[in-house]
Amino acid sequence: MDDVVFRSPRKRGRIAVFLSGRGSNFMAIREAVERGDIDAEVGLVLSNKPDAPGLVQARAWGLETLFLDPKLFATREDYDRAVVRELEGRRVDLVCLAGYMRVLTPGLCQAYEHRIVNIHPALLPSFPGLHVQRKAIDWGVRFSGCTVHFVAAEVDMGPIILQAVVPVLQDDTEETLAARILVEEHKIYPEAVGLYFAGRLEVRGRRVFILEPGA
Ligand code: GRF
Repeated sequence: MDDVVFRSPRKRGRIAVFLSGRGSNFMAIREAVERGDIDAEVGLVLSNKPDAPGLVQARAWGLETLFLDPKLFATREDYDRAVVRELEGRRVDLVCLAGYMRVLTPGLCQAYEHRIVNIHPALLPSFPGLHVQRKAIDWGVRFSGCTVHFVAAEVDMGPIILQAVVPVLQDDTEETLAARILVEEHKIYPEAVGLYFAGRLEVRGRRVFILEPGA
C-alpha cells in the first residue's frame, strides 16, 4: 500500500471560500458550519467578481469578504501571490473552491497542497473542465454526478474525496441535469469539509481513505 502523504488535521479550522458566481455551495457549507456539522468557521469569502451573488450574500451575513480585482495584477502568478498573502494573513486552514472561475497557478497549489478542495459537477476523471453537464448528455452516459477532490496543479485531477451519482434521463437538458447534480453537491461538499476537520481524511498515493471516527 502507498505511504501516507497527508492526514487532515483534527481541529477547529478556518475556511476560505473562493467563488465567482451564485454561491449555492458556499451557502450549503455555511449552513453546515452553523449547524455544527463542520468544526470550522468561515473566515473569508474571496471573489474575482465584485458583484458575484455569493459575495453579496456573504457580506450581508457579516462575513469577511474580499474582492481581489484581476485587473490590478500583471500576471496570474502575481494575483495568486496576493491570494496566498491574504490566506496567510488570516491563518486559513482550508480553501473551498465553490464555482471559482479561475485556474489556480502551480504556486498557489503548492503553497496550499492538501489545503484546497473543489466541487466538480461530474464524476471525475470523466468530464473535467467546463460545460460538463452538456458533455455528459452528448456522450449518452447513463449516470453522472459530482466529485469533491483535493486541488492539484493539473485541473480537476487531484485526489478524489467524495462522489455522488445521479441518473442521466433521456429527456434531460443541461439545466435539468445540472439541477439534479446540484442537490447532491450541496450534500457531499459540506460532508467532505466536515470529514476534513474531523481529521478523517488520509491521502495515500492518489487515493483518499476515510478513517473511522476517532481513528
Ligand atoms: C457548481 O456546479 C460546481 O460544481 C461548479 O460550479 C458550480 C457552482 O455553483 N464548480 P454555485 O456557485 O456553488 O451555486
